[in-house]
Amino acid sequence: MGDILVSTGRLSTQDALRILHQQKVSKKPFGEIAIALKVLTRADVDYALSLQFDYAYLSDKESDLSPALIAAYQPFSRVGENLRALRSQLMLRWFNADPHNKLLALVSPGTGEGRSFIAANLAIVFAQQGERTLLIDADMRSDPANGQGALFKLRGGVGLSGILAGRTTIEAAQAVPGLARLVVLPAGAQPPNPQELLGRVSFAQLLFEASQNFDVILIDTPSGTKYSDAEIIAARAGAAMMVTRKDKSQLSDAALLSQRLQDQGVLLLGAVLNDA
Ligand SMILES: Nc1ncnc2c1ncn2[C@@H]1O[C@H](COP(=O)(O)OP(=O)(O)OP(=O)(O)O)[C@@H](O)[C@H]1O
Ligand SMILES: [Mg+2]
Repeated sequence: MGDILVSTGRLSTQDALRILHQQKVSKKPFGEIAIALKVLTRADVDYALSLQFDYAYLSDKESDLSPALIAAYQPFSRVGENLRALRSQLMLRWFNADPHNKLLALVSPGTGEGRSFIAANLAIVFAQQGERTLLIDADMRSDPANGQGALFKLRGGVGLSGILAGRTTIEAAQAVPGLARLVVLPAGAQPPNPQELLGRVSFAQLLFEASQNFDVILIDTPSGTKYSDAEIIAARAGAAMMVTRKDKSQLSDAALLSQRLQDQGVLLLGAVLNDA
């Protein structure tokens, strides 16, 4: 751990030697001694541990991805804990239930309810668990400034819409620096006909190809009440999880969307109340 902290400039060689000296005497962990000596913060220690154990974790000193990626910046926060609990439930109820279960759509009735936030952070916690994770932004309706491309600071231009239009391939998906095992496919240029594109066989082919190469594939969608895209996507995925936001989502809209999904044969795994 000392090596990582010294080489990233967080710890001086002199302080590292002081810690090692104390460690010989007290036999306590390196990080704990460093914090007690006030030469490192808890965040520095978490960062070094994450690198040591190959854990997807971002340090705000070194990454300029969106601060909304809480699971990456503060994996040990309450939000991180809640996301890991959600991950466990999803593993139990869906991904581990059958080796073919790899796709999951994140849906919600309205706008600004946190679908993209939950999809992004959930993708990070799956990657942290060692799952080869693909996050597909299938919301070709919302402002790209709120989409996965913006959250993960991806190169603009090509994305899902380009694949569906036959202009590019799954190669348009991008790895995220610092977050091993996570690959994100941005929505791409906003097309005039998202619903028609999602109905194409190329969407089914993309999901099939992704299933061969990834363990977990999460799909972000647009508002389920405003458009039928979410239904088409969830029907292809086979399963969906509903996001609702406290003081924002209408219960009647959520109930209606849930019914529409079930009519399409989608397995609705549950609903998360996003209470931020
Ligand atoms: N639990 C949360 N904690 C902190 N911020 C949150 C939380 N949930 C959502 N947000 C913030 O609320 C805003 C709206 O969330 P988000 O973009 O994920 O919603 P959405 O349902 O995908 O919206 P859209 O309909 O525009 O696609 C974002 O700025 C997001 O970072
Ligand atoms: Mg969104």
